[in-house]
Amino acid sequence: MKILVTGGAGFIGSHVADAYIAAGHEVAVLDNLSTGREENVNPKAALHRVDIRDLAKVNDAIASFKPDVVNHHAAQSEVPKSVADPGYDAHVNVVGGLNVLRACVDNSVRKVIFSSTGGALYGEPDVVPADEDHPIRPLSPYGTSKFAFEQYLGTFERTFHLNYTVLRYANVYGARQDFFAEEGRVVAIFAGRMIEGKPLTIDGDGNQSRDMLHVGDIAAANLAALEKGDGGTFHVSSGFPVTVNDLFRKLSILTEYKLEPRFGPGRKGDVYRIALDNTRARERLGWEPRIQLEEGLRLTVDYFRGQIARLRSST
Ligand SMILES: NC(=O)c1ccc[n+]([C@@H]2O[C@H](COP(=O)([O-])OP(=O)(O)OC[C@H]3O[C@@H](n4cnc5c(N)ncnc54)[C@H](O)[C@@H]3O)[C@@H](O)[C@H]2O)c1
Repeated sequence: MKILVTGGAGFIGSHVADAYIAAGHEVAVLDNLSTGREENVNPKAALHRVDIRDLAKVNDAIASFKPDVVNHHAAQSEVPKSVADPGYDAHVNVVGGLNVLRACVDNSVRKVIFSSTGGALYGEPDVVPADEDHPIRPLSPYGTSKFAFEQYLGTFERTFHLNYTVLRYANVYGARQDFFAEEGRVVAIFAGRMIEGKPLTIDGDGNQSRDMLHVGDIAAANLAALEKGDGGTFHVSSGFPVTVNDLFRKLSILTEYKLEPRFGPGRKGDVYRIALDNTRARERLGWEPRIQLEEGLRLTVDYFRGQIARLRSST
């Protein structure tokens, strides 16, 4: 199958592209390298350096590669950035996304797979774990732009018969995540600071919990969605809440970190306790999480150790 992965130079999109190539598919990547990196792009994938806000260039890339499926990961992916600049968030996540959909229709693409969010759609959930039918009430412009695009996918299917699957991710962690990031990305930030023996601040009391999933399990769900889940919306998640304090303890052991954390003020607009029910993905995609938290954290720490050693030896 020919698959175009937008955002395939980024953290998650690059793992998805790798998994498709390993499964024997022909892959091209479309990315403007705003947060993604060229070195993340699989050498077997052609890179189209294109901004999704540029309809003509998106159309050229799709017309020249002629993909059967477009896997759409390109996005403004940070909640705090969306709060600081909701217009930019909407330009990339809604208008840019619509350019991708228009080019898909004009070039007879069979299906679009969309990376949405479970963590930023429901506000403070009424039940934990929340399922996909939980009321939508995003606390950030990012959650709203992601949900708006889900709605457009429904419209494009009804009006232009463009098939789709929506994957609503939990909090994703693993290799290639940006450990210099200031916000979110708790595993990458903790692991990076612990390996370097630097002090670390937990926002709030640390009892806030998240649903954490290793990026390898995310890639597997994107493989399953090539053949299954048409017209469906699925949580891709562990199904369990884990507290930030728990993550701190587990990562401390793996990195032999001896310092105690400082506790800072809680972050405005953050959800306190969330987990996402993945029953629907198990039943309809035939997917289930396979990488246990301890194993995923160990893989991630090993990766960041290698990265930090490389950085040190190059300076
Ligand atoms: N990281 C998570 O926990 C998480 C959770 C839920 C959903 N998601 C979604 O998964 C997708 C990938 O997120 P990520 O964490 O890998 O972030 P990322 O920033 O590493 O990846 C986004 C990619 O999109 C590219 N991009 C950004 N703006 C672009 C534009 N205008 N034109 C072309 N390319 C552009 C970036 O260069 C980058 O390579 C996003 O759609 C995000 O909303 C991520």
